[in-house]
Amino acid sequence: MESNENYVMPRIGEKAPSFKAVTTQGDINYPADYEGKWSILFSHPADFTPVCTSEFMTFASMDKEFQALNCQLVGLSVDGLYSHIAWLRTIKEKIEYKGMKNVEVNFPLIEDITMEVAKKYGMIQPGESNTKAVRAVFFVDPKGIIRTIIYYPLSLGRNFDELKRVLIGLQTADNFSVALPADWRPGDDVIVPTAGSCGVAKERMDGKAEGVTCYDWFFCTKKLDKDTVEAALGK
Ligand code: BEZ
Repeated sequence: MESNENYVMPRIGEKAPSFKAVTTQGDINYPADYEGKWSILFSHPADFTPVCTSEFMTFASMDKEFQALNCQLVGLSVDGLYSHIAWLRTIKEKIEYKGMKNVEVNFPLIEDITMEVAKKYGMIQPGESNTKAVRAVFFVDPKGIIRTIIYYPLSLGRNFDELKRVLIGLQTADNFSVALPADWRPGDDVIVPTAGSCGVAKERMDGKAEGVTCYDWFFCTKKLDKDTVEAALGK
């Protein structure tokens, strides 16, 4: 029976576990090489599989959008380097899908045949598969801290608009010291921190706090316009 410690799950707010690895773009030392940048470390179950191919084509097509947000993509599967290289070449040379063609994957794809990294990041989830990583997504901030984790099963491809929304949301929450309500998008109202004193809460509820709308004493929002949000992204 395999010990549970092989399957530790990193948690939000913790330092991203460090590792050195070989990738399709050379060696990396993670997260140290990404200090000062956001990164998204994500795993896929296997090369030469259809859902993963659709995901890689989508992610690679959005790579410049993520770079513009000061975010680097880093992929991983438990396949070897030559499999990765052959798969990415096939994608570029042969696959045309949903208007995407000639797609070049320029971000690093980690080889992890020993599953060392996958196990460190809780990407091997035995109830789903003992031999393949699930579709994990780790958002890591410029200080190397894990800020969001999303796991998907083998059978469901990720929503890349949502991944971009998460990154924009994390940066906006940091930039403006606000929280963001359900389905928030740039330009939507944001949540202001709960007032620290009764007087401030009453002022807000009475409509005296300028630009603030309160639904109750614990739930107040304010406008934050799209241009202001976007001007602060990627910093
Ligand atoms: C896929 O990417 O298509 C896939 C990979 C592993 C299991 C099921 C689907």
